[in-house]
Amino acid sequence: MVSLSEKTSFDVEALRKDFPILATQPHDGVPLVYLDNAASTQRPRQVIDKIVETYEKHYANVHRGIHWLSESSTDLYEEARRKVQAFIAAPRLEEVVFTRGTTEGLNLVARSWGDANVSAGDEILLTELEHHSNIVPWQQLAERRGAVIRWVPISDDGRLEIDAFDALLNERTKIVSVAAVSNVLGTRCPVEAIARRAHDAGAVVVVDAAQSVPHEPTDVQKLGVDFLAFSGHKMLGPSGVGVVWGRAELLDAMPPFMGGGSMIRRVTKDGFEPADIPTKFEAGTPPIVPAIGLGAAIDYLQQVGLAGVHEHEQRLTQYAHERMSEIEGLHIYGPAPQLKAGIVSFTIDGVHAHDIAQLLDRDGVAVRAGHHCAMPLHERLGATATTRASFYLYNTSAEVDALVDSLGRAKSMFSGRHRRRRSG
Ligand code: ALA
Repeated sequence: MVSLSEKTSFDVEALRKDFPILATQPHDGVPLVYLDNAASTQRPRQVIDKIVETYEKHYANVHRGIHWLSESSTDLYEEARRKVQAFIAAPRLEEVVFTRGTTEGLNLVARSWGDANVSAGDEILLTELEHHSNIVPWQQLAERRGAVIRWVPISDDGRLEIDAFDALLNERTKIVSVAAVSNVLGTRCPVEAIARRAHDAGAVVVVDAAQSVPHEPTDVQKLGVDFLAFSGHKMLGPSGVGVVWGRAELLDAMPPFMGGGSMIRRVTKDGFEPADIPTKFEAGTPPIVPAIGLGAAIDYLQQVGLAGVHEHEQRLTQYAHERMSEIEGLHIYGPAPQLKAGIVSFTIDGVHAHDIAQLLDRDGVAVRAGHHCAMPLHERLGATATTRASFYLYNTSAEVDALVDSLGRAKSMFSGRHRRRRSG
């Protein structure tokens, strides 16, 4: 079998050396095969070093002290914001708001823009393939404001029904919020087309980009959306930091999400005057070192090249589909590989998703099992749980082989048990 690195200039073996954790062995002598990247990715040495260096040489609170250490920390924190701006082609620096993660970003928009602009009877349009982070904040908003949630259906193979989307859009639609890539099916949603149509109907467009920004080039201007949220830990950065980007004119007009230090210009006993964006949305001490670490992760991804990362993952996904379909009774959910990102969720007849994950773990293969924070989607799929393998830039075709070999062993172990039970 020809390995991926032989076929491409994308040097995966060289990249892997940057990730110390990939050399660890979960069980004696069994190498780690890390295929749980949609949940969280690993960090390269360059990001770890940046975090250590910041704590050792530059750490203090930001935007507060006039001492040199605070200035040094503030410079690095704001430099990270500039890196994010360039990474997603945001027109203005102050449109980049640091949050704790995608979840907080989506809650910020629902609370702040939503409470100020959504009234009773207004409609919020979501899709059947959303993560709970892009469902619950809107359900809470709908409850507060008396709004109604409508669901864009998906086809049996997990693609968005775009005609149904058109039919659901109307003058009452205030918000359209969609995942750019499904965290379960890997389905890519046609965000640009959705944004154009939603804007024609007068709605604001929010994108859960947690599974897309880490894996492919993102240009918020080209997408033509209004808000876009993502997380650091899914793109080689630290956990505890994320970004919500929003168009400046919208952010300017929105009330603050949280109150506290930093986010004000002035406070009196009678009230407060908020600061300008982005500070207005960064109450309290922000995730200083995580943001700086995210900046280092962006440097790393820029150096590797996201277009190459994307192609590499496409090839791995295609290969995974081919190899996994050799296993009888294994069902992959979602569209064909060319229509999706590097996420493969599946079931095996007669074996529970958690049992599969546990048996894979014995062979050092790390995957996620369950509903993946997408219960409405699993209900639509008619599955209580799926097992999910998800790829990133450091994964190899040999690791796909390891997954398939381990699945084969898991399957024969279970069919052996069934046979014994039937004959016993
Ligand atoms: N959102 C993450 C996942 O899909 C945690 O696993």
